[in-house]
Amino acid sequence: MALCIPLPSCRFSHRPVRSSLERQEHFGRIAPVYDNLNDLLSLGQHRIWKRMTVSWTGAKMGDCALDLCCGSGDFAFLLSEKVGSNGKGLAPNACYNNIEWVEGDALELPFSDGYFDAITMGYGLRNVVDKERAMQEMFRVLKPGSRVSVLDFNKSTQPFTNLIQIVWMIDNVVVPVATGYGLAKEYEYLNSSIKEFLTGKELERLALQVGFSNARHYEISGGLMGNLVATR
Ligand SMILES: C[S@@+](CC[C@H](N)C(=O)[O-])C[C@H]1O[C@@H](n2cnc3c(N)ncnc32)[C@H](O)[C@@H]1O
Repeated sequence: MALCIPLPSCRFSHRPVRSSLERQEHFGRIAPVYDNLNDLLSLGQHRIWKRMTVSWTGAKMGDCALDLCCGSGDFAFLLSEKVGSNGKGLAPNACYNNIEWVEGDALELPFSDGYFDAITMGYGLRNVVDKERAMQEMFRVLKPGSRVSVLDFNKSTQPFTNLIQIVWMIDNVVVPVATGYGLAKEYEYLNSSIKEFLTGKELERLALQVGFSNARHYEISGGLMGNLVATR
């Protein structure tokens, strides 16, 4: 069974995003066009990155997996295919009836300790108000030996490299395109959130600090994206 933690759609406020509620409002505003914009802005590549993230969890048939900060459910659908229904494979065009959608807070997961065989989190850790707490919660609900796979923009430490490219791309491509959808302010937030995010090494350190036995950050697509894989 794949479980997901979506948050409800609400209105948006463009003040600096401070609380979990404000983050909900922010993403609620983006939600109607989020998938289309992802396809457009990544030229479809986000689908490949998401498949890589899911496969790095090691999720397999019969597992119980969790996708946190699920948004429109891309990871949940991929996990659903991996784990099957009660250990059986899904037929093509199956309606993903092995997914249970759960509304909740990634900082206070409504699950018991050691419940899941695998966890994904895509573009979520950068957006939660307390990253350490989110990592602690993922550690808590994972079974020993199981993995979490966290996909997000890569905050490079190399000067004049991809961080500058990402910032340039957001200012000159992403925000102008989002403007066409009336969402300029929502996407302007991306740059500050990436600058405030953790580098790959810092993500590895955070994972080890909360108790994971092993943590490795991989750069994807020439360093534009990054994926943290941590084993409990
Ligand atoms: C950028 S979207 C990512 C959606 C999806 N995972 C993807 O990769 O396309 C970030 C998501 O994180 C959710 N989110 C932010 N803070 C959260 C929290 N504390 N608990 C649960 N979800 C949260 C937002 O509601 C939003 O759906």
